[in-house]
Amino acid sequence: MSALFSEYSLKDVTLRNRIAVPPMCQYTATDGYTNDWHQVHYAALARGGAGLVIVEATGVSADGRITPGCLGLWEDGQIEGHRQIVQSIKAAGAVPGIQIGHAGRKASANLPWQGDDHIAADDPRGWATISPSAIAFSNHLPKVPREMTLADIQRVRDDFVSAAIRARDAGYQWLELHFAHGYLAQSFFSVHANQRTDQYGGSADNRGRFLLETMRAVREVWPENLPFTARFGVLEFDGRDEETLLESIELTRKFKAIGLDMLSVSMGFSTPNANIPWGPAFLGDIAQRVRNEAGIPVASAWGFDLPANAERMIAEQKLDVVMIGKAHLANPNWPYFAATELGINKPSWVLPPSYAHWLERYTLAR
Ligand SMILES: Cc1cc2nc3c(=O)[nH]c(=O)nc-3n(C[C@H](O)[C@H](O)[C@H](O)COP(=O)(O)O)c2cc1C
Repeated sequence: MSALFSEYSLKDVTLRNRIAVPPMCQYTATDGYTNDWHQVHYAALARGGAGLVIVEATGVSADGRITPGCLGLWEDGQIEGHRQIVQSIKAAGAVPGIQIGHAGRKASANLPWQGDDHIAADDPRGWATISPSAIAFSNHLPKVPREMTLADIQRVRDDFVSAAIRARDAGYQWLELHFAHGYLAQSFFSVHANQRTDQYGGSADNRGRFLLETMRAVREVWPENLPFTARFGVLEFDGRDEETLLESIELTRKFKAIGLDMLSVSMGFSTPNANIPWGPAFLGDIAQRVRNEAGIPVASAWGFDLPANAERMIAEQKLDVVMIGKAHLANPNWPYFAATELGINKPSWVLPPSYAHWLERYTLAR
């Protein structure tokens, strides 16, 4: 009996296994709208067998996109494309999820394969950025953001709420708030990005305030019976790790009190000077600590794609759901090959018969 291939229920939703595709930007949208690329991409991932497919970081406002190619849910016209993605993910037996966020001081960037740096100030494709404090991220992302006013803070919170309503109306069954990776919400929490002296800066309580207020507001509109989750960078690997982790766990307890159902444990990426100990499954023990100490189900990504490691993360109760990112880009049918490698009896859903019938009789020469 495989732990990785066991079902998992959260609220009224049941995943057919513990494998999730994490949000991965495709950078192919125009004006935040979906197109054929997204339709085919997400359908293929769902057909590949994952239990959960989370659609890429989707901007709650136009200025909240990371790049001009990122998706959005800031206007009603954008809902229909998402509705089609939802339908094809569901038709393939996976649960459709979406990540909504605001990129803060990392917004207005060029596409990764066009430099990944900020769009030049005189280039009309770019836009002005906002952040808790007027501090640029790095030499590579040098744009100095405007320090947010209290009105800005309220506007972004409202934008999260409106985007969540649109995600709900599109039919998504799993919501993930993007509170990670050095984007706006993470910047409020981060001592590297937040030097405010008002109620949104300073103490850990104050640095967590924007995240809690936004989460509380979205909780009001997201259906009670559907999973309500967030991705959060619980540490930075900046030498302040135990202190940050304890603050993060404390904040996660408050998230749980608001009604968060699961935390996707990730990293802060709020400083270019992090020293990250990359390696297979390296966040497993940290995620387990959050799971145990905050008492909340957790998911995580980053290097869990060796099937034996993914299996072990679930079997040893380090994670409740394992996110498999780039390996899914390389092979959307990753779950099928993972099941083969783990030597488990493949459930009928793991790959549609149009493919499975042949692959069961054929050993790939690789
Ligand atoms: C192309 C690409 C786009 C990504 N976009 C997002 C995103 O939209 N939101 C997010 O939280 N993480 C994003 N990530 C990070 C992934 O969700 C994941 O954490 C990362 O790929 C590590 O998992 P892996 O080792 O299985 O690939 C992205 C990663 C890649 C490779």
